[in-house]
Amino acid sequence: MDFSGRNIMSIQDFSRDELEHIFKIASDMEKFVKTGSDMLKNKILANLFFEPSTRTRLSFVSAMYRLGGKVLGFDDPKMSSRAKGETLVDTIRVIESYADAIVIRHTIEGSVTLAAEYSNVPIINAGSGTLGHPTQAMLDLFAILREKNTIDGLTVGILGDLKYGRTVKSLAYGLANYDVQLVFVAPEQLRMRRDVLEDLSEEGKSIREVSDLDEVISDLDVLYVTRIQEERFPDPSEYEKVKGYFRINRRTLKSAKDDLIVLHPLPRVGEISTDVDSTKHARYFKQSSYGLLVRMALLSLILS
Ligand code: CP
Repeated sequence: MDFSGRNIMSIQDFSRDELEHIFKIASDMEKFVKTGSDMLKNKILANLFFEPSTRTRLSFVSAMYRLGGKVLGFDDPKMSSRAKGETLVDTIRVIESYADAIVIRHTIEGSVTLAAEYSNVPIINAGSGTLGHPTQAMLDLFAILREKNTIDGLTVGILGDLKYGRTVKSLAYGLANYDVQLVFVAPEQLRMRRDVLEDLSEEGKSIREVSDLDEVISDLDVLYVTRIQEERFPDPSEYEKVKGYFRINRRTLKSAKDDLIVLHPLPRVGEISTDVDSTKHARYFKQSSYGLLVRMALLSLILS
């Protein structure tokens, strides 16, 4: 399977076989976390973050360092020539001669696709508006696989801001490659977009939508919790109506299956109480550590 020079734009561009190949390489990468490797010696990654990030940006940096590569870029667009009015296309045309691949996170949908149209080096979408976050979906699937030993046969609950959250959409499309039952848990105002539901239904997925987690908690094998994306609400008063809608705590999980795992792409801002952290269900910090392995795998496949 040849991934050399490939863009990573959407989880929908990857077949189940390709995802499983990435997961195999990600597991192989575990040994290099301790020993390091010079696999990407002389390769340079550009990290262009027009939006805040901790995990995605730093795990790409760490992945390059662990594989012997180097990283340049910015995480504050106000300190780049964007602040002087430079267009994204011009920025890409310049940076492509400085780096072998470019990771971009941007506020505007379509910006990452536009960058890929003009770039001679691979573009990796690290989150684009309210649409996709494909490498997050890959690490989420990898986390489920590693923590449950399978994805097929599971009932996966996805809870929180399904309207504005991008990780939930990418994860739902990624899960559509597997034989899973999907349960979407959100208040009316934050339900999954109709077009995504239609796409999933075309893929033969039967989806249950509820607004109350208590209705379904005992059915779930995986509970994927997300933050309400305050920064993406067009109207702050709408955010106030749903703010604090969910708060998962030990009591919420009382009727959960013994082997339920709780995931969250992080950052959390109150949707999972810290009293869950020490339960057998909590896997969100482990999940973020899998991001390093998956990003090491992707960079090695694209740049080798
Ligand atoms: N999960 C995720 O994308 O985290 P960051 O926003 O910190 O990168």
